[in-house]
Amino acid sequence: MTERPYVVLSCATSIDGYLDDASEQRLLLSNAADLDRIDAVRAGCDAILVGAGTVRRDDPRLLVRSARRRAARADRGLPASPTRVTLTATGDLDPAGRFFTVGETDRIVYCAAAVVEKTRDRLGALAEVVDAGEPVDPARLLADLAARGVRRLMVEGGANVHRQFLTAGLADELHLVVAPFFVGDCRAPRFVGDGRFPWHPGRRARVAEVRQIGDVVLVRYALSDRCAEG
Ligand SMILES: NC(=O)c1ccc[n+]([C@@H]2O[C@H](COP(=O)([O-])OP(=O)(O)OC[C@H]3O[C@@H](n4cnc5c(N)ncnc54)[C@H](OP(=O)(O)O)[C@@H]3O)[C@@H](O)[C@H]2O)c1
Repeated sequence: MTERPYVVLSCATSIDGYLDDASEQRLLLSNAADLDRIDAVRAGCDAILVGAGTVRRDDPRLLVRSARRRAARADRGLPASPTRVTLTATGDLDPAGRFFTVGETDRIVYCAAAVVEKTRDRLGALAEVVDAGEPVDPARLLADLAARGVRRLMVEGGANVHRQFLTAGLADELHLVVAPFFVGDCRAPRFVGDGRFPWHPGRRARVAEVRQIGDVVLVRYALSDRCAEG
């Protein structure tokens, strides 16, 4: 069996652990230097995954921004940006969203069996819609990505998706950025919701690296033996 991809979870939170606020606008937690670091991490991956909630709420492009990094990928025979991946149980995805309309790289939608046909009709040629069970099983999703040659996957949220990868023990590394302010509004999503996590007071995760990047702090946690020392 092909080894599952190396999985890097990436997120930014407020000091009080929120991933966003409860307003209509997207909350900017990272700063410019950190966004550039994230761009470098993206450029080193074969695929980037976000949940359908993030596709709807943030309307992300999920592309490598730096022309230099895109060119370096092309020199290595890779597409300019990694394959974009999402998962959905409802198929409620807008084909006019930037995930589907901006950039040339492949898109894969892992979809609950019951809504595969509906989602294929809705998205047409914009994405490959894959029947991934009921509900979508993250381990099965990873096995399918591995079979497609994805060796390194970046998971960029949101809360629901991070919780599933963490509780299932399917993450090798967590990049947690803490922004220097509070949100203080329990209507906003938190990193992360309730669950039984493999790391708890009796089994502490290993800190691989701590780095200050301007006014934010990055902590890189090693969550598996596959994560090398920082
Ligand atoms: N600060 C950060 O670093 C960061 C990063 C990303 C996102 N965010 C924020 O996080 C929030 C979104 O988080 P969220 O928890 O609401 O959404 P999410 O985790 O992005 O997506 C959740 C959705 O993904 C689909 N899904 C997840 N697991 C599934 C499974 N096993 N099977 C089938 N479908 C599955 C479902 O889509 P359907 O509803 O379509 O069935 C579910 O509603 C937004 O506020 C966003 O701004 C913050």
